[in-house]
Amino acid sequence: MREYASLINAFILLTLLLHNVNGEDPYRFYTWKITYGDIYPLGVKQKGILINGQFPGPQIDCVTNDNLIISVFNSLNEPFLLSWNGLQQRRNSWQDGVYGTTCPIPPRKNFTYALQAKDQIGTYFYFPSLALHKAAGGYGSIKISSRPQIPVPFPPPAGDYAILTGDWFKRSQRQLKYFLDTGHNLPFPDGLLINGRGWNGYTFTVDQGKTYRFRISNVGLTTSINFRFQGHTMKLAEVEGSHTLQNTYSSLDIHLGQSYSVLVTANQPAKDYYIVVSSRFTSRVLTTTAVLHYSNSFTKVLGPPPGGPTTDIASSLNQARSIRWNLTASGPRPNPQGSYHYGMIKPSRTIVLANSAPYINGKLRYAVNGVSYVSPDTPLKLADYFKIGGVFSVGSIPDGPPGGNGGYLATSVMHADYRSFAEIVFQNWEDTVQSWHIDGYSFFVVGMDGGQWTPASRPRYNLRDTVARCTTQVYPKSWTAIYIALDNVGIWNIRSENWARQYLGQQFYLRVYTPSTSWRDEYPIPRNALLCGRASGHHTRPL
Ligand SMILES: *[C@@H]1O[C@H](CO)[C@@H](O)[C@H](O)[C@H]1NC(C)=O
Ligand SMILES: *[C@@H]1O[C@H](CO)[C@@H](O)[C@H](O)[C@H]1NC(C)=O
Repeated sequence: MREYASLINAFILLTLLLHNVNGEDPYRFYTWKITYGDIYPLGVKQKGILINGQFPGPQIDCVTNDNLIISVFNSLNEPFLLSWNGLQQRRNSWQDGVYGTTCPIPPRKNFTYALQAKDQIGTYFYFPSLALHKAAGGYGSIKISSRPQIPVPFPPPAGDYAILTGDWFKRSQRQLKYFLDTGHNLPFPDGLLINGRGWNGYTFTVDQGKTYRFRISNVGLTTSINFRFQGHTMKLAEVEGSHTLQNTYSSLDIHLGQSYSVLVTANQPAKDYYIVVSSRFTSRVLTTTAVLHYSNSFTKVLGPPPGGPTTDIASSLNQARSIRWNLTASGPRPNPQGSYHYGMIKPSRTIVLANSAPYINGKLRYAVNGVSYVSPDTPLKLADYFKIGGVFSVGSIPDGPPGGNGGYLATSVMHADYRSFAEIVFQNWEDTVQSWHIDGYSFFVVGMDGGQWTPASRPRYNLRDTVARCTTQVYPKSWTAIYIALDNVGIWNIRSENWARQYLGQQFYLRVYTPSTSWRDEYPIPRNALLCGRASGHHTRPL
């Protein structure tokens, strides 16, 4: 009874504090303490970023439309922010947790995020967004299940395992940051991790004959990976919230920031098998393994793990094209406003985004359409709200690539009309694979191919059953085209998921704008919003 009363109190407090959550849907409360602690993922001691003592951080396990109230206590001696890769936060870019929208949580201070997993089902992750904190951990998986009355297109699996994997460096995040700050790229990574552990450091136990769901996210900094199970195939089930046709794959390419769910049936002789992750498109191949342990097995893994594809691009492109949406599967649609028939809508605008690696003031930078993003002293979202001039100007990045290879530094913000429908083409002239992410949205990947995109590329688009997702790859000297319904008001980060590139300017913000001030279009500033830079001294409510 007392517990119940204190819950009600907490609820009333929160309703007062954070009125912009949906009161009809269930709440889940999290209290997270962020600290430094010793971790040994590759056998050497490192200073990791822990959440409640854990690396990786705790998993968020919730149901569609749940309100997630996450109190983050920053016990680091530096500012900290968490962001939510793939959680759309409709009408609520205030909570996005990137420096363009949200003030950092100062050392020894706390901040409470109020998120909602609105109309989403699937696999996502959270990560620390400032500096190179991601190189020290601080990330965790987000699993959003469907409500019981909404079936997913496969029987309930016997188990549901999250796998956070990606490249890892033995150098500290400070040392890595120094490389970038002094105008160099990051060195080659030292290894790969699976759930924070190295070679055979993690075991997944399965019962023979049963089917399991594995949710795999690439949380690395610089490298695409290939993922496979020794002796087993994978049925692809979900891509960042889209239920797919359940094609069978023997291995899967997962680019930076991407998430996939696969179904694996333990239908082989009872023994232990490798789960293998290897780096993709790298001259030197990094590999790590975990163990798939049959509960009735007495035979340990032995010998080298099976190899996978390495530098070949054509097979990766073919695999990407084979990933389709299951049109008959139920579940929330990515854009409830009606762009389900995305192929029937004519985009009103085409934006071409070309990445480049210019030297500016003698230092390596990365740029989008010639502009290399620099953070202002005040989050854009707050500058916009409090009408603080001189922080950014809309239109500070062109809609298409300029000629030439030069670049300049700017706080780049692009305008978009609320409820417009846009075509965005990512054009990559560099010889590395790019991975692009858009906060606040999922978008339809309508096409990708080698060479230069032109309007003549459009007839080959998949306008029927491509997946909607939040992160897409762009192959070397290739393009990727997406359709996006700009139905989420806010200021949203568009960025490279390669952390060196993001850090050195391959990102900008899209200001999806409406003159309306209705809460139906955008939530007001949270009462507890931290204020910093030139927004300090302002008030989130009139006095
Ligand atoms: C910080 O934590 C305290 C104690 O739990 C709480 O009263 C306060 O509202 C929190 N501040 C923010 C900004 O969430
Ligand atoms: C698509 O979803 C439907 C409905 O859940 C399911 O019956 C069907 O098997 C799925 N199709 C494929 C090819 O995965």
